[in-house]
Amino acid sequence: MKPAAPHSLLLSSLCLALCCLGGARASRRSGNHEWKKLIMVHHWPVTVCKEVENDCRDPPDYWTIHGLWPDKAEECNGSWPFNLEEIKDLLPKMKMYWPDVIHPLNHSHFWKHEWEKHGTCAAQVDALNSQKKYFGGSLDLYQGLALNSMLQKLGIKPSINYYQISDIKDALAGIYGVIPKVQCLPPKQGEEVQTIGQIELCFTRELRLRNCTEPGEPGGAGGAGGPGLEVCEDGPAFYPPPQQTAP
Ligand SMILES: *[C@@H]1O[C@H](CO)[C@@H](O)[C@H](O)[C@H]1NC(C)=O
Ligand SMILES: *[C@@H]1O[C@H](CO)[C@@H](O)[C@H](O)[C@H]1NC(C)=O
Ligand SMILES: *[C@@H]1O[C@H](CO)[C@@H](O)[C@H](O)[C@H]1NC(C)=O
Repeated sequence: MKPAAPHSLLLSSLCLALCCLGGARASRRSGNHEWKKLIMVHHWPVTVCKEVENDCRDPPDYWTIHGLWPDKAEECNGSWPFNLEEIKDLLPKMKMYWPDVIHPLNHSHFWKHEWEKHGTCAAQVDALNSQKKYFGGSLDLYQGLALNSMLQKLGIKPSINYYQISDIKDALAGIYGVIPKVQCLPPKQGEEVQTIGQIELCFTRELRLRNCTEPGEPGGAGGAGGPGLEVCEDGPAFYPPPQQTAP
């Protein structure tokens, strides 16, 4: 399975379309659920499996979607249950780009969780205010960003040699024109270095790319994306190749 080809035109036309829809009339009904930025969280399946110490069978060998998360808001609407029927048309893409890496036999638990925790908050903006729009819009943002092709183009591939985190961040900032956030699993006992786990790229409520950090905010602050993940320390990091499963 190959990730989609880069398609920056797609991204810009998508933003145009969504900005017109979403920008002007963004609803603000939510009181303390107010949020300012959307975080597109990509995770590296090999690291996901390592984090839960699960020997997932043949995890994807490309970055997949963890979620599209509003900052500062979770579980905004408990009376809006996940309904798989509504995203029926998206299922082929969902399975490919937004799989439950750990439970590949039933992705629905994962999608339900993402909808309830994050989607119901993202739905404050008109461009994402249904399950179809939330999941479809997330897939469009992911495909527009084309992180997999960009990393390949930059020559950043899984390797037994370590990368400098600053090199990866600078390269991505050069491509996207905004500051990303990169998260790692800290070294476990007996390991020399941290392991790259997630790459976040951030959007405004109008779905335009923006820095993941606020001006003046230290690069490392806040928002770890999983139980063991932390913002990567400056310095070397391991970008683990897919494990070979025994024949
Ligand atoms: C929660 O979702 C339901 C179902 O879509 C909707 O009718 C209701 O207005 C929503 N409530 C809030 C506070 O947005
Ligand atoms: C998958 O999980 C969903 C959500 O929890 C559940 O409703 C569904 O029955 C499960 N499907 C299968 C095939 O187990
Ligand atoms: C994004 O971050 C860069 C580098 O810190 C900074 O030069 C730029 O002004 C920031 N952009 C915004 C919109 O804050």
